[in-house]
Amino acid sequence: MAFYNKKGTNLKKDLTETTVKHVISAEKLPGFRQENKAQYVNRMFTQIAPTYDRVNRLMTFGLDQGWRKTVVAEARLKAGERALDVATGTGDIALALAHQVGSRGKVVGSDFCLEMMLPGPAKAAKAGVGGIVQFMAADAMRLPFASNSFEAVTTGFAMRNVTDIERAFSEMCRVVKPGGRVVCLEVARPRWAIIRWGHQLYFNRIVPMLGRLISGHGEAYTYLPESARNFPPPEELKRIMERAGLTQVSYRLYGLGAAAIHLGVKPSTPGRRDF
Ligand SMILES: C[S@@+](CC[C@H](N)C(=O)[O-])C[C@H]1O[C@@H](n2cnc3c(N)ncnc32)[C@H](O)[C@@H]1O
Repeated sequence: MAFYNKKGTNLKKDLTETTVKHVISAEKLPGFRQENKAQYVNRMFTQIAPTYDRVNRLMTFGLDQGWRKTVVAEARLKAGERALDVATGTGDIALALAHQVGSRGKVVGSDFCLEMMLPGPAKAAKAGVGGIVQFMAADAMRLPFASNSFEAVTTGFAMRNVTDIERAFSEMCRVVKPGGRVVCLEVARPRWAIIRWGHQLYFNRIVPMLGRLISGHGEAYTYLPESARNFPPPEELKRIMERAGLTQVSYRLYGLGAAAIHLGVKPSTPGRRDF
């Protein structure tokens, strides 16, 4: 598995190697029937990559960056430690992790979509953490890292997109060190009916319109509310993380319940579950 180089050639090679063929049950997504989910998701993020950051900021009124900072705080990293950000996209969480671990530490941002990661190195250099973060093409379903490699593993707005959520968490649990933390940021549905109604209206109607206007790819932003609708609610996600091997799993809701941050710990004794 090669690391990022300036021309992105190694990443491109890795991308084809790691874009695996997963077949999942028929989801009613536009254009979905001709492709499997991994290919569909990869193609979609390739299309929207150039405008991803801009649409995200607009869509969440800038709240997304605050949520990412909370993810990093919850990872509880110390200077000199190693962290992995799975499905890092344009790398915002990875960059924030790098500030946490400092120049003696190491952060890997991995994703299976090369185009999403392309802005990462320049963003890292601009933020003064270019030497700390490495971007790497990797499928979340089979992470190319040895077991017990990182003090913490994070992931943001990605679990909606994978073909098997439990397997993705099993992989994160495998590569984190015993006692290390796995932190996940994802969308959720507000609990209060009136807020949920407003949220759904915004997510189902305004977001696709905004996304289409800015990125020119309406399909991708129709997929977004669709994938959120199909995503397990926070309590169920907690159980999935526990089944994947994590202990002390807890979560908190943010943005009036529009986002959830889940946290789990890898048991110190292999196979032991503290619940
Ligand atoms: C909504 S973006 C989130 C990016 C970033 N984590 C953030 O907080 O903005 C979802 C990312 O998940 C990546 N992704 C989806 N499925 C993946 C998989 N199986 N393996 C690796 N990356 C995946 C996509 O390529 C995309 O970059």
